[in-house]
Amino acid sequence: MSKITREKFKTYKDVFDEFAIRTLFKLSSQGYFDDPEQMSPVSIGKESNVFWAKRGDTKVILKIYRLETCDFNRMYDYIKYDPRYTGLKKHRRKIIFAWVQREYRNLLKARQAGVRVPTPYTFLNNVLVEEFIGGKDAAPKLKDQVPRNKKKFFDELVSQIKKIYNAGLVHADLSHFNVLNHEEKPVIIDLSTCTPLDTPTSAEYLTRDVRNICNFFAKYGLKTDLEKTIKKISSQKV
Ligand SMILES: Nc1ncnc2c1ncn2[C@@H]1O[C@H](COP(=O)(O)OP(=O)(O)O)[C@@H](O)[C@H]1O
Ligand SMILES: [Mg+2]
Repeated sequence: MSKITREKFKTYKDVFDEFAIRTLFKLSSQGYFDDPEQMSPVSIGKESNVFWAKRGDTKVILKIYRLETCDFNRMYDYIKYDPRYTGLKKHRRKIIFAWVQREYRNLLKARQAGVRVPTPYTFLNNVLVEEFIGGKDAAPKLKDQVPRNKKKFFDELVSQIKKIYNAGLVHADLSHFNVLNHEEKPVIIDLSTCTPLDTPTSAEYLTRDVRNICNFFAKYGLKTDLEKTIKKISSQKV
């Protein structure tokens, strides 16, 4: 990496450490996106920072977990119940890398089941590369853009949750923060907490997810029924 590049990255010194920079350059050199110096911030969160970058004529999303300041205790509290990660040691880096890999695997599984989630492209260390949802700008979150047809959006969202369920997963952190309103249709994001149905806490997660969504739409005057909605999601496929 040239000195100039390092200089430029100083702009992001709160966001990236040397390790993340190396990871980003590797991903870029593998062709997952064009120029690491042209990344634009979408969201700076507590746990991760989300950027978009160009890849030819399209854009990709880079979700970069903060190695030093993310709350890996919270991550561990979720991942320790996931049967795919039993035996994972409570070691900061190991947990963060497993967390990124888990998000990738969940997205892939959901995508294969036909759920409207960003297509995952790859992951490396603490960085996940996935499809950019939006047009010129990133699509707004449901909380920031209430759908025009609430009933239609709600029903569509419930059918997406059911597809995730049929794929053997539950999101576990679903709310109006983790649903994008893309051209009046839901896209579910942030599948890092998403866990298999044979996780001991999965029923509790499903209830919480559905309650969050029902409450959000109820605030805008839609009649929602928590019990019925949960039944609809968890009933047998026809
Ligand atoms: N694939 C995507 N396309 C467009 N915007 C995205 C995408 N993924 C994330 N975002 C934006 O970045 C924000 C943070 O991403 P998220 O995955 O929810 O991480 P966290 O909640 O852990 O910060 C989202 O609320 C959304 O605004
Ligand atoms: Mg989120």
